[in-house]
Amino acid sequence: MRLFYWIRIFWIGRFWHITDLHWDPTYDLNNKPNKVCASSGNRPVGNAGTFGDYVCDSPWDLISSSLSAMKAISPAPDFIVWTGDDTPHVPNEQLGEEAVLGIINNLTYIIKQLFPSGFYTEELLNRTGYRMIVLNTNLYYDQNKETKGVEDPAGQFAWADHILTEAANKKEKVYIIGHVPPGFFEKKRSKPWFTAKFNQQYLKLIQKHHAVILGQFFGHHHTDSFRMIYNSDGSPVSTIFLTPGVTPWKTTLPGVADGANNPGIRLFEYDTETLLVKDMVTYYLNLTFANKAQERWEKEYRLTESFRVSDASPHSMHKVLERIANDNCYLQKYYEYNSVSYDLTECNEDCRIDHVCAAREVDFSRYEHCLEKETAVFMCGGLLPFLSALISLVLTIHV
Ligand SMILES: *[C@@H]1O[C@H](CO)[C@@H](O)[C@H](O)[C@H]1NC(C)=O
Ligand SMILES: *[C@@H]1O[C@H](CO)[C@@H](O)[C@H](O)[C@H]1NC(C)=O
Ligand SMILES: *[C@@H]1O[C@H](CO)[C@@H](O)[C@H](O)[C@H]1NC(C)=O
Repeated sequence: MRLFYWIRIFWIGRFWHITDLHWDPTYDLNNKPNKVCASSGNRPVGNAGTFGDYVCDSPWDLISSSLSAMKAISPAPDFIVWTGDDTPHVPNEQLGEEAVLGIINNLTYIIKQLFPSGFYTEELLNRTGYRMIVLNTNLYYDQNKETKGVEDPAGQFAWADHILTEAANKKEKVYIIGHVPPGFFEKKRSKPWFTAKFNQQYLKLIQKHHAVILGQFFGHHHTDSFRMIYNSDGSPVSTIFLTPGVTPWKTTLPGVADGANNPGIRLFEYDTETLLVKDMVTYYLNLTFANKAQERWEKEYRLTESFRVSDASPHSMHKVLERIANDNCYLQKYYEYNSVSYDLTECNEDCRIDHVCAAREVDFSRYEHCLEKETAVFMCGGLLPFLSALISLVLTIHV
């Protein structure tokens, strides 16, 4: 038994997932206070320091700090998943193709310098039986005018369906990575990224092929969350892990209050034989503290410890979700991690519904139904009994 346990330990691999680095090359503390960075737009830059500001994208010091932290914490990962969004949040006219390529070049250069081998997805691709599928989900973005009305942009759904069918035939195990995830943004009610049609197509693809898909890894939100995918019989079959961003940039999306985050990076632990995701550890830089006192990357939390599950399988993640949905302590903990310990305010009932329904339902109509159902639960479980008790109390006093 003991021997078996030790052997199993050797099968645990590690990989980093980093996303949304959003380097802003204009960030400069020598600029006028309101012009520290182009990515702040017209918003006041309140606490600019060496490692950034909550309304700015990442200065180079933050980029190199996060990569150095990765190197110090786990210098020899099996691979690194890097899911994009590298450029600053500025109008397109200010950027241009050359600038974008330049930024990607600089980022690739520093990653390669720190992690000369094991870099990127090659090893996984190069091991028979294990496959990484990189999807360009920007094609499904509802802001993407080029692909609106196209049945299957770039033929990617057909291609993925083919690859996943082959994977099943060859008994391969697959990870899917991408940037923009399907489903809803948990910080803004009823806000999806994909068009309804592409969202549905994506969901169908995963439900059809879930048996070979051992994990999905996305970014874009800058927040720490996850999405469950269930089968028609309601059993959890797949999880989309949403890794928080390196950039602390406060979103300008209307309707989101104070949507900044601390810079985060994430280490996944997985079974190198089965590709089962065993655990994930999120590390973060408290930006306020870093600017004020010292650059200190800390462990924020380990999934299995904080949510008391045995691994990060779809069944375990379903348990995590039910804990968040039904227990205020877990909800609050999840909520603080969601902004990488930036927003420590209380997650109220509306907030609970937004986060729970976004995590539970990727499908558009099921999501809306979840909002109604969860609201009704609150009315019945909380408010209605209270009101009826009050009425009967008043009546009793009258009588
Ligand atoms: C980015 O790359 C360019 C061209 O190689 C180089 O001149 C520049 O110093 C780099 N910037 C940083 C911050 O590394
Ligand atoms: C895959 O492995 C082969 C043989 O070991 C090697 O020649 C090739 O360069 C590798 N491909 C990649 C993309 O790493
Ligand atoms: C981050 O640092 C600031 C300044 O030291 C502190 O007030 C705040 O509590 C810290 N946040 C967390 C989550 O530790």
